Amino acid sequence: EQFTADRILLFGATGDLAQRMLLPSLSALHADGLIAPDLKIIGTARSEMSDAEFRNFAREALEKYMPAKRRGGMAEFLNRLSYQPLDATSLDGFKELAEKVGEPKQGLAIFLSTAPSLFEPTIKGLQHAGLDGANVRMCLEKPLGTDLSSSCEINDAVATAFPEDRIFRIDHYLGKETVQNLLALRFANLMFEPIWNAAHIDHVQITVAETIGLESRVGYYDDSGALRDMVQNHMLQLLALVAMEPPSDFDATAVRDEKVKVLRALRKVAVGDTVIGQYRAGAISGEAVPGYDDELGKDSGTETFVAIKGLVDNWRWKGVPFYLRTGKRLPERVTEIVVQFRCVPHSIFAGKGATMQPNRLVIGIQPEENVTLSLMTKVPGLDREGIRLRQVPLDIAMPDAFVGQHRRIAYERLLLDLIEGDQTLFVRRDEVEAQWQWIDAIREVWQSSGQTPKTYTAGSWGPSAAIALTERDGVSWHE
Ligand code: BG6
Repeated sequence: EQFTADRILLFGATGDLAQRMLLPSLSALHADGLIAPDLKIIGTARSEMSDAEFRNFAREALEKYMPAKRRGGMAEFLNRLSYQPLDATSLDGFKELAEKVGEPKQGLAIFLSTAPSLFEPTIKGLQHAGLDGANVRMCLEKPLGTDLSSSCEINDAVATAFPEDRIFRIDHYLGKETVQNLLALRFANLMFEPIWNAAHIDHVQITVAETIGLESRVGYYDDSGALRDMVQNHMLQLLALVAMEPPSDFDATAVRDEKVKVLRALRKVAVGDTVIGQYRAGAISGEAVPGYDDELGKDSGTETFVAIKGLVDNWRWKGVPFYLRTGKRLPERVTEIVVQFRCVPHSIFAGKGATMQPNRLVIGIQPEENVTLSLMTKVPGLDREGIRLRQVPLDIAMPDAFVGQHRRIAYERLLLDLIEGDQTLFVRRDEVEAQWQWIDAIREVWQSSGQTPKTYTAGSWGPSAAIALTERDGVSWHE
């Protein structure tokens, strides 16, 4: 159903995500003139608040989380907002909520940014109040379950009210510019695709390193751990985009069909092919930080670091390791994809004292957005002995290549697509379930083999076993 939503109903409107990401993103879309003047945003949460108080709340969030120069037209933006308190666990308030939402001209987009335990009662309430018509879209934030079976339960509950083509599951990594640029790089250039396979690629590394610790998410994170918090969603989506076959079209069905094939081809991870860690007190950029158990206030078996050697069992990727690692309290914040090519089949320079290094493509996602291809070149000079070679980077810093473009929050792209009804950058049910299936199997291996997190010092690159995981294949993590 193609319609442009002119109402947004935001559950969890007073929550952290709403303050840091959703309200700022909507206001950025407003400032850039990307949403219709009559689009209204209705916030709802448990707290009692008037419209005026919610606008005030939103203004404070924008002042806190948006750079001053990006706050254009704030007063008009705030005028779009209204608020209705609601206890989502009881059906009572939903009719009133529906009245507050009113009759959209074209359609309504509902954004659920609440605890997953509220998903089911909320869906029931929406059905009860008639907020499940053909002109309603449903957008879901993670975590979508804690394993395959709880994820299926949520998906089933949502499916009772909304067909898949009106369900928008967020993975905010898909809203990041450089993540989409990966598709442009692969499929808008001729030179990569012919060598994008096991014959020419030695291995792939995906790193999502964070310097932050637990923050204020004590309960959620300790129940989740790095594997389910980061690998199940963001990192597997990155892997799928790197590994998928070229889709026939840049549309929701074609792209997601290809991604899900990769996710289903992931080989069950063997004992010994994962390393888990938990940080102890240490220092980041010279500043002392406490250990995980100190932050938590108790002992815990939850992993704050995970490294995995993954394999994709298909013709293209036979035997090519995909090394994944992510963790909290690592030395720097960096998200990057490294594609390590193989050596040239025969070096004509070998007898001339030159050392060859294979080409490497590094896609920097954050904090810097850049694409670097390392090439072998001749070192200038008149060498008696022969020829000296050195690896030099062919470097594209995206902000330099596109001067005048400001950095966008991933949610700007995703909210705009939600309003317009484009599902390409949202995760389909079969993808989520394939992701969980692989993750569940890893957790089973940990359980059956009794694997528990090794400690690492905050500010280091994780337990030393993570280094051994790649070194035994003759590979070093990229730094
Ligand atoms: C979230 C995780 O999905 O992604 C957080 O729950 C993590 O633990 C965050 O910090 C990272 O997102 P970004 O955009 O800062 O890389």
